[in-house]
Amino acid sequence: MIIVCAGVLLKSGQVLLARRGPGMRHAGKWEFPGGRVEPGEAPAAALARELREELGIEAVVGPETARSRHTYDFGEIELIAFLVPKFSGELKPVEHDALAWVEARRLLEYDLTPADVPIAEIVSTHRRRQRYKGTHPRSFPEKYKELAQDAEAIAKAKERGSTPAGTHIPVMLQEVLAALEPLAGAKVLDCTLGWGGHAEELARRVGPGGSVTGLDKDGEELEQAERRLKALGLTILARRSDYADAKEALAALGLGAVDALLADLGVSSMQLDRPERGMSFKLDGPLDMRMDRSRGKTAAEWLASASESEIRDALARFGDEPDAEAIAAKLAALAAEGRAPKTTGELATAVSLAKGLGAARFRKKDAFARHPAARAFQALRIAVNSERASLAKLLSDLPSLVKPGGRAVFITFHAGEEALVEKAFAEQAAAGQWRAPLEAARKVSPEEARENPRARSARLWRAVRR
Ligand SMILES: C[S@@+](CC[C@H](N)C(=O)[O-])C[C@H]1O[C@@H](n2cnc3c(N)ncnc32)[C@H](O)[C@@H]1O
Repeated sequence: MIIVCAGVLLKSGQVLLARRGPGMRHAGKWEFPGGRVEPGEAPAAALARELREELGIEAVVGPETARSRHTYDFGEIELIAFLVPKFSGELKPVEHDALAWVEARRLLEYDLTPADVPIAEIVSTHRRRQRYKGTHPRSFPEKYKELAQDAEAIAKAKERGSTPAGTHIPVMLQEVLAALEPLAGAKVLDCTLGWGGHAEELARRVGPGGSVTGLDKDGEELEQAERRLKALGLTILARRSDYADAKEALAALGLGAVDALLADLGVSSMQLDRPERGMSFKLDGPLDMRMDRSRGKTAAEWLASASESEIRDALARFGDEPDAEAIAAKLAALAAEGRAPKTTGELATAVSLAKGLGAARFRKKDAFARHPAARAFQALRIAVNSERASLAKLLSDLPSLVKPGGRAVFITFHAGEEALVEKAFAEQAAAGQWRAPLEAARKVSPEEARENPRARSARLWRAVRR
């Protein structure tokens, strides 16, 4: 496999394409500038070197944007594309015979080299960041500039201890891959496909002899992940399903028990960052919170119909909320007046008032500061999606989903999930279904917690089937 790097040079919503000059393979076709990664060279460093040699510029190489694979007559290449938000120097092409700044959405109108097409498909969805009037942003996309892949805003968000909006970074990826090995030729079930971050690497590892099946309850996320992975040349069997029904989902695909099973619990960054999903206290939107928006009660409907004791129990059980009583009383009183919260903003305000904090906007002082409504939002999301019941069912079916010698990995994010996974693994190991002794849960590394603050509370649990 030949590794090649490419730069997505971005300037005011336009991307630089370079035309391959006479004498070059694919002469006349357009590409993102870049070149071969030499053995032992890091792809980002190779790109900086290539841009210096090929275009005479000093580039700031940003985050990886996309990857593609293509088989040419001389062999298979993997193309790794990085965002280049800034460069200095004047563009002077050495090997290319033309350069063009192209609006991102029009990239696919150019005659591109085959390996560059999947990269262009992803980059062409880029929208220019909107500038806002005045000193304060008014809407979510204005406020969360990171959503528009603004590399500087992404770096700033990381500095202040936040996960950049609109990005999903697969949690404990290297640990997951190591815990599920051996993967070559394996049949894998990813119970929580999400953005497909874990599935992407799993699909690369299993190779042609293996398969990756990805489930998600959220049809909207599932479709996007399927499209994204397809553009990378990776095939997965994606199926909309609650993981509680994993057994039926595998049977419907003509599959039985698997060699490796992954469940990365909870909510994805993509769901949290879309205001219309109503999952985040950061963004004002309708109070929905359903993973599957085609069925069930929204969080607003749940709150309007639940009794005070049901709300209190949910807050205490699913959010470990110390002020469950006061918040339940406030929410029940609002519902009795026909004023139950209908938006995330209204819920966040009601919770803050019940805690005696006033309705003022919360300001995150450091990476450890927690919004006063964070626990209530988590509890409500768990209640609305019956998350505990689904997890309990998946755990009880687990031994029948994994082949002898196969591995199961769970990533949990809070005490309630940890307790369920730990208990099920221990009981099933005592019954001789998993190899004993079980390994202790692993915590996220300090480096990863710094890079991806949303992963801070993650714990990885693994069991090997007997
Ligand atoms: C933390 S994300 C997974 C992210 C994924 N591992 C990645 O790297 O992109 C969790 C996903 O699980 C899905 N999910 C939550 N509860 C589910 C359930 N009961 N059945 C199936 N999927 C569920 C959510 O819709 C979300 O997309």
